[in-house]
Amino acid sequence: MRLNITVLPGDGVGSEVTREAVRVLRTVLDLYGYEVSFEEHAIGGVAIRQFGTPLPDETKHACTNSHAVLLGAVGGPEFDSLPPGQRPESGLLALRQALGGFANLRPAIAYAAIADCSPLRPDILKGADILFVRELLGGIYFGEPRGFDASGAAAHNTMRYSETEIERVAHVAFRQARMRHRKVTSVDKANVLETSQLWRKTVTRVAREYAEIRLDHMYVDACAMRLITHPGSFDVVVTENLFGDILSDEAAVISGSLGMLASATIGGKVDLYEPVHGSAPDIAGRGIANPLGAIASAAMLLRHSAGLEQGAQDVEDAIREVLDKGFRTADLSPQHSADPQRGRTKRVVSTAEMGALVESTVADVVDRRRAYHAV
Ligand code: IPM
Ligand code: MN
Repeated sequence: MRLNITVLPGDGVGSEVTREAVRVLRTVLDLYGYEVSFEEHAIGGVAIRQFGTPLPDETKHACTNSHAVLLGAVGGPEFDSLPPGQRPESGLLALRQALGGFANLRPAIAYAAIADCSPLRPDILKGADILFVRELLGGIYFGEPRGFDASGAAAHNTMRYSETEIERVAHVAFRQARMRHRKVTSVDKANVLETSQLWRKTVTRVAREYAEIRLDHMYVDACAMRLITHPGSFDVVVTENLFGDILSDEAAVISGSLGMLASATIGGKVDLYEPVHGSAPDIAGRGIANPLGAIASAAMLLRHSAGLEQGAQDVEDAIREVLDKGFRTADLSPQHSADPQRGRTKRVVSTAEMGALVESTVADVVDRRRAYHAV
């Protein structure tokens, strides 16, 4: 099997973390006998500077003609004064539309080894493992009309959903729940918004096709609180675009750092993989960003685009093993944790060192499993 992957490093720490994700992908695909080619293209602020647009046609075509797209991050303070349609972020939104993936999977896992990086108590975090299924192509992000009034003193956006848009993402959530703990929490604001009333009614109807799955509904404000008081009570959370954006960042406190979170956008022509974190201009260029969110996104690529479930698990096991050994990037380092004492034995490593550690560990993981099966 031959895979063509388009790599869009983007802005800030994007290039630093995607480099490590590519390194791990290369090694794993090689171990599984896959041929792979990576082609790099510009998106976001880098593309604005080079081509005057955040999503050049060449980038778009490369993406639509590949098996999968791996993206770093977009955005930067120098573009803050541009209108929304010309900012780096609009390149990413246009790419999402062009690729057509409507279901954004964002796992939030409490890794035992870095529980001390979370402001939450270990007993609250224990065992938390949530999969957010965020609707990615609808809602207020794309609804028309939008814009500023002529005076510039007022502005408006439109939240809009159709049954079809809700149904298709609900199916993804229920199917994911089948492979997990068979529970779906649908999050909305049905006490105030019509789009949410349609959301709730439609998800409830789709649920009838999945008798083995438990469905409950929660208002987004209540969910925001319950996520940090009882993260272990969730399995799959399905929600609309903006709520999913906000709740998935909040869920970073479960993993201990935004740098840990991965995502996969599926359901379209070509699937898109990107860490949840942004371009982090404050630490860009220093080689200290956490590449594990990008590497975990690469694991999701192996699972969803390469059909390599075992390879995906190998990468996920390697991430766990490296953390268990006490290796951490600066965002996970003792000064960020609640208890500096416990941080003593940890070793702070750079972005590239962390990538290399996962790369060599994944090779060990595969070796060990193969040796085990050989006896
Ligand atoms: C994310 C990001 C994007 C979003 C931005 C960069 C457009 O915050 O992927 O969560 O809002 O979807
Ligand atoms: Mn976000």
